[in-house]
Amino acid sequence: MARLAGYETPRLGMGTMALAIEGRPSNRNVAIDTIHAALDVGVRYLDTAWSYYLPSRPGTGEPEDLGYGEKLVYEALATWDGPRDDVLVATKTGWLRTLSAAPATSNADSAAAPKSAIADRTGAVSGNNFGEYGWQADARPETIIHQAKESARRLHVDSLSLLYSHCNDPQLPYEDQMGAFRRLVDEGVVRHVGISRVDAHDIDIARSILGESLIAVQNQFSPSYPDPDHTLEYCAELGLAFVCWSPLGGFLDAVDQRKYDPFRKVAATRGCSYQRVTLAWELAQYDHLFTIPSARNPHEISDSFAATDLVLTSDELTYLNAAVGR
Ligand SMILES: NC(=O)c1ccc[n+]([C@@H]2O[C@H](COP(=O)([O-])OP(=O)(O)OC[C@H]3O[C@@H](n4cnc5c(N)ncnc54)[C@H](OP(=O)(O)O)[C@@H]3O)[C@@H](O)[C@H]2O)c1
Repeated sequence: MARLAGYETPRLGMGTMALAIEGRPSNRNVAIDTIHAALDVGVRYLDTAWSYYLPSRPGTGEPEDLGYGEKLVYEALATWDGPRDDVLVATKTGWLRTLSAAPATSNADSAAAPKSAIADRTGAVSGNNFGEYGWQADARPETIIHQAKESARRLHVDSLSLLYSHCNDPQLPYEDQMGAFRRLVDEGVVRHVGISRVDAHDIDIARSILGESLIAVQNQFSPSYPDPDHTLEYCAELGLAFVCWSPLGGFLDAVDQRKYDPFRKVAATRGCSYQRVTLAWELAQYDHLFTIPSARNPHEISDSFAATDLVLTSDELTYLNAAVGR
């Protein structure tokens, strides 16, 4: 257990992106059941975002699907008979979904997307196995403030426990984006702030503007993307929480499966899934690291959550760290 945004939570939460975007279960009840299964096994941190929805026409989306992911999380909590006040719901803002008329070639919220791929606010960046869906940064202060209030309304809360800036919108100074989050904190709309897809320089800017309100950095981290910029170490130095996105390599784009072979090897000796070993390895990197795997069915999240009980030996950790190059 660890403390995050005022909640005592296991360090393995659940990312709900796969339940809300392309490839999501066609039956909404399966998504609700998956979140219930997560909560039943002990998950107390659910990660969602403004942008977890699907536009249905070319452009930035049809109103009926906007907020799908946040509404799903709210509905799952409202219909769960456990201690829902113990559950931290974190959301993110500053990104939209797009649907392009023609197939394209890269995907922004995916493991493989370079930072530059999310740069274009004037048009969709899109395309992968799922076709023409894309993402678009929009972190103008007025957008952030408006969307944060809508997220609070959709989640039925007076203030958001933890709101992430989803990305650094390259069309705006980061100072201006962080200034909007400062205002949200000052107005009581947001209690704690996180930032995502950032480097050390971004972290410094955010800290200088947000001070103690900045508590978490959510960056990509997995055996196939082991944080080459060492932002995890920087968070440890500053005492910030580090939250791993796409901790199993993500599901939108193909990853180099060979990177997971050492984890398969350890898993074979442990008699468990390599995903569980991967998550346990991540948890061992830093005592204020949280990992938020996606799942599209109850079995996967139950299997993943068991990583919180899997203590890898120092030999196993040495072997896996060396294999990953950490
Ligand atoms: N801040 C950002 O920009 C950003 C970007 C990406 C993701 N995220 C966050 O990170 C969360 C997780 O990332 P992700 O959705 O990209 O993928 P992920 O957690 O890396 O998981 C990828 C896939 O692995 C499979 N899986 C999960 N647990 C498993 C298990 N125990 N055994 C076997 N297979 C398992 C599932 O695929 P199948 O369903 O196909 O089996 C899952 O969709 C998201 O939900 C989101 O909250 C944030």
